[in-house]
Amino acid sequence: MRVYSVLPQIRYSIIRSISEKVAAINKSLPPEQQVIDLTMGQNMIGDPTCIFRKIAFLRDTKVPPFTYAPSLGTISARESASNFYDLWFKVKLETDWIMITDGGMGALRNALCSVVNDGDIVVIDPFTFTYPLDTLRVFGRKFRVEVLNSSEDLHFVPSADTVIESLGSLSQRNSDKMIIYYTQLGFNPQGAFRPRNELKKIVEFVDDSKNVVLVNDIVYHLIRFDKFEMPLTSIMSSEGRNIFDCDALSKPFSLMGCRVGAMITRDKELFEAAAKIQQYSIVSPNVIACEIWNVVGNPENFVEIERAVKELNQKLRENFEITRKTLEKLGLHSISPGQGTLYVFIRTLEDSEKFVYNLIERAKVALVPGTAFELTPKNGHKYARITISVPRDLLQKALERIECYITQAT
Ligand SMILES: Cc1ncc(COP(=O)(O)O)c(C=O)c1O
Repeated sequence: MRVYSVLPQIRYSIIRSISEKVAAINKSLPPEQQVIDLTMGQNMIGDPTCIFRKIAFLRDTKVPPFTYAPSLGTISARESASNFYDLWFKVKLETDWIMITDGGMGALRNALCSVVNDGDIVVIDPFTFTYPLDTLRVFGRKFRVEVLNSSEDLHFVPSADTVIESLGSLSQRNSDKMIIYYTQLGFNPQGAFRPRNELKKIVEFVDDSKNVVLVNDIVYHLIRFDKFEMPLTSIMSSEGRNIFDCDALSKPFSLMGCRVGAMITRDKELFEAAAKIQQYSIVSPNVIACEIWNVVGNPENFVEIERAVKELNQKLRENFEITRKTLEKLGLHSISPGQGTLYVFIRTLEDSEKFVYNLIERAKVALVPGTAFELTPKNGHKYARITISVPRDLLQKALERIECYITQAT
């Protein structure tokens, strides 16, 4: 075999392959006949203008050379990130707990690759963003995966008791291994948020354990329709040992393509290990990403930035309600509680992969089957994810097409 032997075992991203298929179909079609792509986790209705307008060198007639940023991000960007969390949540992070990363994925890669050894156990939720586990495999790690239980009435977010019981039993039975729990605060694809008291219970359990690591993915913490809650488990913990928070500005500020993230840990040993992963994978975060952190962490810009986040959440909440109501009427029940994120997760009337395929062919709308959010498909055949962060008229057109397809099919 000419390629690295692990790669054939890793599936190409289902989300990307559907989106790429749609792009190929659309290439030869006039705009009104094109498939509406509601697959990718992209925020197409946020407004990064207020951020870019404040980056001075982008407005200059002569742009200076772009030098490498320091491996962990510029000091000012790391200080600004600390400021950013203080502005939103009134918490004080030390600069050397923060690493500027290439998006949320960069933060997750650094965190996971710094702790997972061969033979360790990575624990995930029943529906989750599975990409970081594939990244671990690409980095050559051979680990075991355990999937936690939950149910539709809990929006497939495992309760703190379930998490603690499972992690506790795994940690006792495997005291020579690390148990790494990768979880989210605001869940992709379900659009549900783990309540703060539940998260705190998990953090207390990690604090009391020797071999349990928490990787808390908080990339949706500002995309909430109910209430903002302090997302940082590093701060909820007594010392922050074995705890990472992984964030990105991609989703709230529509900066997906800029790769702007942050990894936070108070655990010095883990921070230093993660720094090596970053250094030898991306060399240094990009200079524009560092400048973006400087803008969002500047108190002078805060009123404008807060307004942009509120406006986004208002639009998303309306998109959520329109989508939920339209689809409920058709028997496509939403299991998302309407708390936030960019998605509505629905129960499909037929196998979700078949449903998605049929929708592309017959309704010209592309969604993602629930199986894309599981390593081994189980419940995902019953659900599909819709991205709702698109302009209202496009969303409405997509919903009309789905309605037409369902009424004709039944
Ligand atoms: C839960 C979750 N974490 C992380 C990411 C990656 O974020 P970024 O684009 O900033 O790398 C995504 C992207 O969809 C996501 O849904």
